[in-house]
Amino acid sequence: MTVIQEKSPSIVIRGMSKTFLEDTSETVYVLKDVDLTIKHGEFYILLGPSGCGKSTLLNIIGGFLDKTDGQLDIHRANSNHDSNRGFIFQSADSVLFPWLTVEENVEFGLKMKKIPLAERKRIVQSYIELAGLSGHHHKFPSEISGGMKQRVQLARVLANNPDILLMDEPFGALDAMTRRTMQKELIRIWQETNKTVIFVTHDIQEALMLGQRIGIMSVGPSSKITSMYEIDLPYPRKITSPDFNHYYEIVQSHFD
Ligand SMILES: Nc1ncnc2c1ncn2[C@@H]1O[C@H](COP(=O)(O)OP(=O)(O)OP(=O)(O)O)[C@@H](O)[C@H]1O
Ligand SMILES: [Mg+2]
Repeated sequence: MTVIQEKSPSIVIRGMSKTFLEDTSETVYVLKDVDLTIKHGEFYILLGPSGCGKSTLLNIIGGFLDKTDGQLDIHRANSNHDSNRGFIFQSADSVLFPWLTVEENVEFGLKMKKIPLAERKRIVQSYIELAGLSGHHHKFPSEISGGMKQRVQLARVLANNPDILLMDEPFGALDAMTRRTMQKELIRIWQETNKTVIFVTHDIQEALMLGQRIGIMSVGPSSKITSMYEIDLPYPRKITSPDFNHYYEIVQSHFD
């Protein structure tokens, strides 16, 4: 086993660009000259207005899209992690199998990898507990709430033991109270698992509740990360605290 190099880079992006071909056959730069270094175990927020290219950037990091230009390096943390990247989508509905129970959904990837039954059950049980799903393992997705479905999605991704969690507005479709609960839960899970997390949001409050660092993306086209903030506040964070408010005003000023 290699020892995790604390603070060593997990992801390095240099001068990266992404173009799409418009209907008019014109080439449009969605991302241009993006520079970003994310450390192992860091909780990093990509914050930006709708349409600026957050999902495009996350999808490139996740390997779902090819970059057009520049450098993207993903470094493994250590050999303890089985897979490189796990992706959490905004809606669990499109990714959970409706004909499988909560438990079977979490188990799915492990079955595909032919992990022996006893070990599989042990792993599934531990992530069901970690995600706060105990007692719900025999339910089907149609029988649980939106917040619970996101917990299942998270448990399923975590069961594959990825190095890096890529989360694209995962709580965007939840009501405000459930979102708050899920934010707290995610911080707890991140602290217990030491994953590197890249979390996309356009909600400043959410960014400040979660992130150790926040990268602000400019309005597209040719979007890039124009400002970066270290949020030096302990967890769990309080929305009502003066320090929180102080950061809020600074970040908000970018969008006035
Ligand atoms: N496959 C594609 N072909 C052409 N243009 C695309 C494609 N995918 C995204 N775009 C364009 O790239 C830009 C960035 O889109 P993206 O989905 O990354 O933004 P976003 O910041 O995630 O927005 P939102 O907050 O609404 O999710 C948009 O103008 C979008 O229309
Ligand atoms: Mg998006």
